[in-house]
Amino acid sequence: MPADPVKFTLPEDRIPTHWVNLLPDLPGQPLPPLNPGTMEPAGPNDLTPIFPMSLIAQEVSPEPEVEIPEPVREVLRLWRPTPLYRARRLERELGTPARIYYKYEGVSPAGSHKPNSAVAQAYANREAGIERLATETGAGQWGSALALACSLFGLDCVIYMVGASYDQKPYRRAMMESWGATVVRSPSDTTDAGRSQAAHTTGSLGIAISEAVEVAAGDGRTNYALGSVLNHVCLHQTVIGQEALAQMELAGDEPDVVVGCVGGGSNFAGMSFPFLRRVLRGQANTRFVAAEPAACPTLTRGVYRYDFGDTVGLTPLMPMFTLGHDFVPPPVHAGGLRYHGDSPIVCGLVKRDLVEPRAYKQNETFAAAVMFARTEGILPAPEPAHAIRAVMDEAEAAKKAGEERVILFNLCGHGHFDMSAFDAYLAGTLEDPEFSEADMEAALERLPRAPAIA
Ligand SMILES: Cc1ncc(COP(=O)(O)O)c(C=O)c1O
Repeated sequence: MPADPVKFTLPEDRIPTHWVNLLPDLPGQPLPPLNPGTMEPAGPNDLTPIFPMSLIAQEVSPEPEVEIPEPVREVLRLWRPTPLYRARRLERELGTPARIYYKYEGVSPAGSHKPNSAVAQAYANREAGIERLATETGAGQWGSALALACSLFGLDCVIYMVGASYDQKPYRRAMMESWGATVVRSPSDTTDAGRSQAAHTTGSLGIAISEAVEVAAGDGRTNYALGSVLNHVCLHQTVIGQEALAQMELAGDEPDVVVGCVGGGSNFAGMSFPFLRRVLRGQANTRFVAAEPAACPTLTRGVYRYDFGDTVGLTPLMPMFTLGHDFVPPPVHAGGLRYHGDSPIVCGLVKRDLVEPRAYKQNETFAAAVMFARTEGILPAPEPAHAIRAVMDEAEAAKKAGEERVILFNLCGHGHFDMSAFDAYLAGTLEDPEFSEADMEAALERLPRAPAIA
């Protein structure tokens, strides 16, 4: 190895054989999802119309480790293990004593971490005899990932793409179509949910989810696939953190702080859960920072309540920080972070102060993205640019404290399909919308009448 290595790579046989399930290590009993009709705890029967039983079992598994099926590992070999980098050039630019590492998930065929779960979900559905998957996509990354996974496992795929992203990213649509998927701009007139929300012309993830769930629930050969939030999606992403643990060992370093951006929570979960488990077991005292947009500040400003996962109220209610299921965030460019809620597990960790949430505005995140691109070379997606902003704050704090802090973050995707956003930033026309108190009060009034959470 050279004296100052920048890349830490693992051979293919080090792709994890199991996913890490944090559920059994969490303090207290997990709060159940609720049936949207009865407000009683939802059971497997509430989920079988849209999910295969094997994924429902993963959703509530009491096992600390869940085996990854061999056909899924075989597909993961196309890009995994992903590289871990030491950001030496960024460290120099910042003049910080901190050591900064990043795990790069942008090397997947779709350009982000999303295929880690898409492949597992497509396989589980094909094994259950399902012929088509319906889903939503915000930034286009999840839709691309599922289109790819469906093409690899021989399934049809229909994708409801949030209107704002559909307009901003025509090439994402072409990418999904190249993998054989059908892409529909949401809200659409193909579903009752879409027609009821036609006034929201830029759309939202919540509306697109309602459309995809409606399609899946109404057709026995079609199931629904969600790209984030649910326990089984977070589970599938833990290949990231497990590889990172081994790569940090190769680098001979131990992270003091692990950073990720949060849309629905899956890339943050994937990187952090294997590290968090060590903290929960008293084996480490790592800190965790979750970065989100100030325009959609779920973890920093939301209320901790039961709420629907979608806008129309078709999905079970989940215990989470929420801005209200019908909140339509401004069309900021980090389309993947425009979700009104977050993973119940990640929310529970924030509630217990095991994860520290921070919110950033658009221009400061793009400034961080551009500095990263000019030093490390990789052009990050606007979503992980939020994590980079948080990393730079940590590096600055280390500099002020004269401390050798070790920072690890998840660079969960590249920004090659986000150039209109970079264009706007470089032209100085990017806006900095923020969530207002009035927005929060209005959202609170529309929350469903569900049991309060202690
Ligand atoms: C590149 C990228 N990062 C992050 C996210 C946010 O999702 P999650 O919080 O599930 O990782 C998305 C969602 O589309 C994304 O495309």
